[in-house]
Amino acid sequence: MNEILKKRVLTPVTKEIVVSAPRIARKAQPGQFVILRVSEEGERIPLTIADFDREEGTVTLVYQEVGYTTRLLGKLETNDSIMDLAGPLGLPAELPEKGRVVAVGGGVGVAPLLPKCKELHRRGIELISIIGARSSDLVILEDEMRACSNELHICTDDGSRGFKGFVSDKLKQMFETGLNPDEVDEVIAIGPIPMMKATCAVTKEFGVKTWVSMNPIMVDGTGMCGACRVTVGGETKFACVDGPMFDGHLVDWDEAWRRANSYREQEHIANERCRCGGEH
Ligand code: FES
Repeated sequence: MNEILKKRVLTPVTKEIVVSAPRIARKAQPGQFVILRVSEEGERIPLTIADFDREEGTVTLVYQEVGYTTRLLGKLETNDSIMDLAGPLGLPAELPEKGRVVAVGGGVGVAPLLPKCKELHRRGIELISIIGARSSDLVILEDEMRACSNELHICTDDGSRGFKGFVSDKLKQMFETGLNPDEVDEVIAIGPIPMMKATCAVTKEFGVKTWVSMNPIMVDGTGMCGACRVTVGGETKFACVDGPMFDGHLVDWDEAWRRANSYREQEHIANERCRCGGEH
């Protein structure tokens, strides 16, 4: 059992938990994720490792209470345990050793972005970060991102904080008003599918290599079930073993969006049950 050692509320719907998981912490690298189950009959959901501490033997997970399982997880408090936690899974992110990187994070996507940014900072990379959310109260991990970025730009869809508009709009504006795309080695964009798609459209226009992190539905997390299929450059890839990071200019975004929404009705039913206090 993996005990929750700390819990922090980041926004009304986003929580951060620090979980005791020494074996996972020992091997974890930026870009990897875990699959967890909250209860015996529960579904398995992937969550990116937002941070890890090898000495303390802990991993930090950030999640938004948007579905049945994340709501159940949200009910767990410090000293409660997560039924099971498998990982680290997926390939570590391929990060450059030098140069300049722009990190773009949307909503809860800032959580998986953070460990990569920390590692880039540790390597001495110049890091320009753009993070955003629908409104100012939903912006997460601002202090942590600021601590590892040379520049941090905040965006909100409603203009309640920083730049009014999407993170992709801000990136476009920066490229048009002084940030030389030729001097950016790569962009890392993580967030909801429409945000990553829009960011990739901008970086394609300006010719900057872009990595994205896919977060599709997963079941086994070992490449056997096919649930996490994504098409990249016309080839079928499994996000759990071939990813989760892919070249964003090669991802079939329309297919990814269709697949992400294929269980919407079932998710709605499960959510309604959870709100009513039902267990499964
Ligand atoms: S989750 Fe089953 S193949 Fe990736």
